[in-house]
Amino acid sequence: MVSKEKNIHYHSEEISKYFGRSRRKWDDYYPSERWIFDCLARERETFGHVLDVGCAAGGLGAMLGGRFTLSSYTGIDINPQAIATGREAGDLPPETRLLVGDVVEDASLASQGFDMVVNLSCADWNLDTAGILAASWARVAPGGVMVVSLRLTPGASVTSLAQSFQYIHYGDDPVPEGCEKAAYVVLNLNTALSMLSTLPETRRLVAYGYWGKPSATARTPVERVLFGVLAVERDRAPRPADDPVQLDLSFPRDAWLP
Ligand SMILES: C[S@@+](CC[C@H](N)C(=O)[O-])C[C@H]1O[C@@H](n2cnc3c(N)ncnc32)[C@H](O)[C@@H]1O
Repeated sequence: MVSKEKNIHYHSEEISKYFGRSRRKWDDYYPSERWIFDCLARERETFGHVLDVGCAAGGLGAMLGGRFTLSSYTGIDINPQAIATGREAGDLPPETRLLVGDVVEDASLASQGFDMVVNLSCADWNLDTAGILAASWARVAPGGVMVVSLRLTPGASVTSLAQSFQYIHYGDDPVPEGCEKAAYVVLNLNTALSMLSTLPETRRLVAYGYWGKPSATARTPVERVLFGVLAVERDRAPRPADDPVQLDLSFPRDAWLP
């Protein structure tokens, strides 16, 4: 089971400082993220209306707008300074909206359907991972897709802040006293696949992942993380509940071995 706790409303200025200058260009993105976006671009002429959940300073909008075709970019983030930095950035696409809010609690986007909802390092960077994924999925229009990055393990899920966290600190100097902590959720691989496959109207799940070490600022019992990026496609219309879901997984062969 993935825990359902209220999300932390992050206040650290490190978020706006780091994401104001990083993760704004194609080469700043991980190979797993680039693999999935390239894969989606081969199958669609445009990414359409894009929602970025946990957008920080909107760097994804700058990256996607510079490389792919999209109709609009909307970002939402719980951290107001990051949104303020994004609003001052000069590299975002013309049709951009940046909003402050918790995607789980914010009702302002509730009635809107997006062609692509992206959730990179957000669902597993806060406590209500399942709630963030459900709220993101609720904003995917019929025929649309959700892109999500998750930290995975063949072992037991690690979801509590006491057990697994990351200091919100970027750079090589030592972590300062009192540094704010973010959740560092690592999900059991089967739990994550089952959670995504059983979202209402999931049609296909395409994923790419590889092994890596946890971030240097993370304090977690998991020694080896399977970093996965998953694209979850939504059917155009509801199908019978027993229709199969298609899984296309490019994971290491030992992804399931403890
Ligand atoms: C690690 S950063 C990732 C930023 C960006 N998505 C990227 O991959 O470059 C995670 C971001 O998610 C935001 N966040 C965490 N929980 C959130 C929530 N429930 N709703 C909206 N934003 C959230 C944080 O404030 C932070 O800016």
